[in-house]
Amino acid sequence: MTQLSPARKPAAQPAGHGTALYGGTRSRRITVRDIAAAKERGEKWPMLTAYDAMTGSVFDDAGIPVLLVGDSMGNCHLGYESTVPVTMDEITLLSAAVVRGTQRALIVADLPFGAYQEGPVQALRSATRLVKEAGVGAVKLEGGERSAHQVELLVSAGIPVMAHIGLTPQSVNAFGGYPVQGRGEEAAQQLLRDAKAVQGAGAFSVVLEAVPAELAAEVTRSLHIPTVGIGAGPDCDAQVLVWTDMAGLTAGRVPRFVKQYLALRELLGGAAKEFADEVVGGSFPAEEHTFH
Ligand code: KIV
Repeated sequence: MTQLSPARKPAAQPAGHGTALYGGTRSRRITVRDIAAAKERGEKWPMLTAYDAMTGSVFDDAGIPVLLVGDSMGNCHLGYESTVPVTMDEITLLSAAVVRGTQRALIVADLPFGAYQEGPVQALRSATRLVKEAGVGAVKLEGGERSAHQVELLVSAGIPVMAHIGLTPQSVNAFGGYPVQGRGEEAAQQLLRDAKAVQGAGAFSVVLEAVPAELAAEVTRSLHIPTVGIGAGPDCDAQVLVWTDMAGLTAGRVPRFVKQYLALRELLGGAAKEFADEVVGGSFPAEEHTFH
């Protein structure tokens, strides 16, 4: 079986400015200071989710500067129906794997549902675990004004925080699904207040999920921290996709904001069938796969 070698050479990065987040020549891990500098330069950057060492290493080699060990692992990796059941033990285990598989990307881990809602002290306990046990460089939590106290305590303790506002999937039961957020004047004003609240509390970036493009553009212009869009139009500072959606591994319908860059489900299924046919037909293993 192919191994992830700890001595893996950093892959050649696409040509670009030396300090660029994507396409730069930096050989150390990306930090939140690099993220802040990218906003000052007006540079856009990509983020993908990762849930294991192997895919983490693929995306790291591709030069993706920020990898999110998202609680989307609930739907995409662990077989749950939503992100709600994901536990601290699960996120800690998979975050540690992604950290081990990567050398350059900033690894951000989600605080799962129930791991920070009790208040700042619970949030600090959970985030500290992810930083100490898994080795992540930052954590992400959902909520704007309602989570600002949590963000403030984590940041004052030295833990960088990415906030997540708009459609916050951990609130699926309250939303009654995954509707677009920020529509209408009042909701738009609330989104702006949420964005300002997490920036004021010290978050280094904020995910905007499923909000109208015009509103996301306005939030992006009014913040000095970068916005990371998912279903939030082209004017955010960064864009994130769930990797299984992006690669076409997800079964069934994907949200409208997803672009599928590969048909991985079809490719993988095809390979599995070819293997099965050859085993049943007796052509695998062949001479070159056989010891004598
Ligand atoms: O868990 C996740 O993957 C996320 C992204 C969709 C931003 O929160």
